[in-house]
Amino acid sequence: MSAEPVPHIEGVDLHTTAGKIADLERRLDEAAHAGSARAVEKQHAKGKMTARERVIEFLDEGSFVEFDELARHRSSNFGLDRERPYGDGVVTGHGTVAGRPVAVFAQDFTVFGGSLGEVFGEKIVKVMDHALKTGCPVVGINDSGGARIQEGVVSLGLYAEIFKRNVHASGVIPQISLIMGPCAGGAVYSPALTDFVLMVREKSHMFITGPDVIKTVTGEEVTFEELGGAHTHNSRSGVAHYEAADEADCLEFARALLSYLPSNNLDEVPVFDAPADLTVTDLDHELDTLIPDSANQPYDMHTVIEHVLDDGEFLEIHAGFAPNIVVGFGRVEGHSVGVVANQPMSFAGTLDIAASEKAARFVRTCDAFNIPVLTFVDVPGFLPGTDQEWNGIIRRGAKLLYAYAEATVPLVTVITRKAYGGAYDVMGSKHLGADVNLAWPTAQIAVMGAQGAVNILYRRELATADDPEGERARLIADYEDTLANPYLAAERGYVDAVIRPSHTRVQIVRALRALRNKRAALPPKKHGNIPL
Ligand code: HXC
Repeated sequence: MSAEPVPHIEGVDLHTTAGKIADLERRLDEAAHAGSARAVEKQHAKGKMTARERVIEFLDEGSFVEFDELARHRSSNFGLDRERPYGDGVVTGHGTVAGRPVAVFAQDFTVFGGSLGEVFGEKIVKVMDHALKTGCPVVGINDSGGARIQEGVVSLGLYAEIFKRNVHASGVIPQISLIMGPCAGGAVYSPALTDFVLMVREKSHMFITGPDVIKTVTGEEVTFEELGGAHTHNSRSGVAHYEAADEADCLEFARALLSYLPSNNLDEVPVFDAPADLTVTDLDHELDTLIPDSANQPYDMHTVIEHVLDDGEFLEIHAGFAPNIVVGFGRVEGHSVGVVANQPMSFAGTLDIAASEKAARFVRTCDAFNIPVLTFVDVPGFLPGTDQEWNGIIRRGAKLLYAYAEATVPLVTVITRKAYGGAYDVMGSKHLGADVNLAWPTAQIAVMGAQGAVNILYRRELATADDPEGERARLIADYEDTLANPYLAAERGYVDAVIRPSHTRVQIVRALRALRNKRAALPPKKHGNIPL
């Protein structure tokens, strides 16, 4: 393609230095306003920011350094050469968040619907390469009609170049995807490969095939929002990790997330100066009355988490999906920690497929980025049922076991109440490699709960007893006294200590201090073969 003639600027001689500078200014101004006024207005009317506005709001003030502002597509297919906006529909570059370098790209829906063509793709590839080379997180803001139809296979090639980089960067630099508009077809796989996917309520949609195609192929009628809106992916599919109320909330959550993560897998997470009080406080004492006397009564595991973390601050991830397990980040003595906790308030805290996969992914994220994992256990076991079995609880539940067993970061586990059966092993047990295991006196560590155990062990006796209910109650009490407590495990060192609940925070502080220089390695291998 031949270079376009330099346009005339009124009153400026382009053959002078002043003229050349004015020409540059004109080009940069054009780049900054690449989307038409009509498209920008449409974007704003939908309650959406433009790509550039998002980048500016996301990064520290004045820190944005743009790449390839003057890049333009080279395609002439289907009249594309009539319109060659600077930037080609994506804003890329780097800046800082809380003073730490971050690479960023933001797809610009106001230019060709944010569709990805060759130059657009090359710009993303360049910024990803920059992030990988310099060891900084990459944040992608997605708002796009997908592959640029006019550019054909070239667009698809660039998508695959991006996917490859997502995979190569996985576990090396944090990758966060913000979905702030459409993200459809194969394009969804770049966010899917990143560590965290954040969506905006009613403004963003992700799906492989849209409602029209679904209707044609399967006859199902479904709206965009039901099919792939933020709520759907945060509650049903688990694709997204956060459902933002609006764009500002989404950007803020991404900034908060970054504060808990290192810039790369060889870097340290920034530490806040927050030495812990090692005396047991009034607040700590509240935990002594948390566990109900009846084992069947729930309590909110968030209370335990908040009593242990600095200032009770917990950044919960994936809150709307598999609520029977809680995961998220916090700090202990100013150091980042990941928390995994069964939630007795939801399905009694049982482990099912969704909970196993959610927690496994989170444990692996923490391990990849050297963030210690705190596990709080109150789990009656795996959820029974044909639905779970036929959907692969064996293969999919195994992921959580795998994740804990391969984790080499400091692992501290506290059993607050039930730890039954295979779920005892899975939830950060000593046997899988946890470093410090603590139990409350209310812990019940056994093959199964008293009710189930008595029914199996004494079926015949109960069938012939004069007073079956009285006999059952006596046997249950006997089982609980003998087996459903933490002391058999303590005798064997499976738990290192049985502690008063009020001592939990102090014990965790001491454990994490002791583990700060932990070094552990797995046998050399190309990579493991986690059941997928
Ligand atoms: C080129 C596109 C485009 C695309 C949108 N536009 N998508 N141009 N390639 N993929 C253009 C439109 O022509 C329009 O241009 C402008 O962007 C804004 O689009 P509208 O349709 O006016 O916006 P809206 O009504 O908000 O609808 C948004 C939309 C719709 C739902 C995303 O545009 C749409 O359905 N687009 C096509 C989506 C699609 O099928 N993409 C391919 C997916 S397959 P003008 O000039 O009128 O402003 C894919 C494969 C990736 O992406 C494979 C990776 C492995």
